[in-house]
Amino acid sequence: MKHTTIDDCRIIDIRKYTDNRGYLSVIEEGLDIPFEIKRVYYLYLVPEAARGAHAHKKLQQLLIATSGSVDAIMDDGQNKKTFHLDKPWKGLLIPSGLWRDLENFSGGAVLMCLASEKYNADDYIRDYKVFLKFKGQ
Ligand code: TYD
Repeated sequence: MKHTTIDDCRIIDIRKYTDNRGYLSVIEEGLDIPFEIKRVYYLYLVPEAARGAHAHKKLQQLLIATSGSVDAIMDDGQNKKTFHLDKPWKGLLIPSGLWRDLENFSGGAVLMCLASEKYNADDYIRDYKVFLKFKGQ
């Protein structure tokens, strides 16, 4: 989608169940997340270098720092907003058509990504100028 903005990103509270045995969080398709989960992947042991630096034409995502913390810098071509992810019960819901940079991974950070589509290299925009054109700028 070309017309999404950073205001369409939102942090969701992931259901959690706690008792004296600790915490359990759950994400169920159709209940907690507005898309069908077709793929799960996770980033870990990330060194100083940043990741991301791309947009998706169609794919929607939920990002969760299941361990440690990371900054997701969202960009719609006009405005940017940084989301600091540092709790396993908080998820960043990202609609299609937004640029993201992932920076400042803490030691031991694990960033889990739930995706609405299977892997498709053609869905990626990796050139920022092409992204701006895609957004009509
Ligand atoms: P890449 O898209 O470059 O990572 P980032 O999200 O930081 O931009 O992915 C790194 C490599 O992993 C690349 O060779 C493609 C491969 N890959 C898959 O094969 N399947 C997947 O679902 C993902 C996310 C990546």
